[in-house]
Amino acid sequence: MTAPNAPVPAFLYGTAWKEDRTEELVRLALATGFRGIDTANQRRHYVEAAVGAAVAAVLGDGTVTRADLFLQTKFTSVDGQDQRLPYDPQAEPAKDWAVWQAMEALHHSGQARRLGVSNVSLEQLTTLHQGSRVKPASVQNRCFAIHGWDRDVRAFCARQGIVYQGFSLLTANARELGSPAVVRAARRTGRTPAQVVFRFALQVGMLPLTGSSSPAHLQEDLACFDFELEPAEVRAIEECGV
Ligand SMILES: NC(=O)c1ccc[n+]([C@@H]2O[C@H](COP(=O)([O-])OP(=O)(O)OC[C@H]3O[C@@H](n4cnc5c(N)ncnc54)[C@H](OP(=O)(O)O)[C@@H]3O)[C@@H](O)[C@H]2O)c1
Repeated sequence: MTAPNAPVPAFLYGTAWKEDRTEELVRLALATGFRGIDTANQRRHYVEAAVGAAVAAVLGDGTVTRADLFLQTKFTSVDGQDQRLPYDPQAEPAKDWAVWQAMEALHHSGQARRLGVSNVSLEQLTTLHQGSRVKPASVQNRCFAIHGWDRDVRAFCARQGIVYQGFSLLTANARELGSPAVVRAARRTGRTPAQVVFRFALQVGMLPLTGSSSPAHLQEDLACFDFELEPAEVRAIEECGV
């Protein structure tokens, strides 16, 4: 859910695995300059209520306005939950199309401006896009360099005007962070390999996520807006995992 006219920020702060540091770290991310927050209604990996507490705190102290903020959450099916279920598993079966239609109803009632889907193949995304009344506005996928940084899904998103959100850009690509393509670009720009990967993500049209718990890394991550890779560097990084 987000404010009616809030733009989608170019970088998202992800709140997975923060547990009892969630509120403090969301506040830190907002203080550092992040304006987009990702959470999920899935207690196994997220503390959604603590994200709400952080947002309430910054709105209360006036440091950020609601119109500046982009908030997204996710529905997770029973298979992805632990025993701390956020809903009654005996309620109506949450089959994929029923879930999407429930989200479409939220969209029509004004409670969710943009709908999205996560962890999808090109085939699944194509099926959803063809069969839905409210089309997906964003896709959030783990982005592996060895799969051409999810090239096929990204290309579909680009054609359909869907925002592609890439996560695990650093953790899924540890080998590529040390590849000649990334290391050379880092040396030329005087940036870290992590910054080069985030910058690469921006330049190929992705919306990256970071879930850093480090004040210095949060600043470094946002500083990837301050430099540019050359087209040949982008091409080399695009090919570095394949
Ligand atoms: N839809 C899904 O199924 C799904 C699954 C996983 C994640 N997500 C979302 O994506 C978000 C991000 O998750 P992620 O998998 O990408 O992992 P992550 O939580 O962002 O972890 C990234 C790792 O990179 C490090 N890091 C970040 N910036 C760095 C920098 N500038 N230099 C060096 N290291 C840096 C972090 O360490 P420090 O803390 O020390 O900086 C951390 O160890 C999650 O919080 C969640 O919102 C979604």
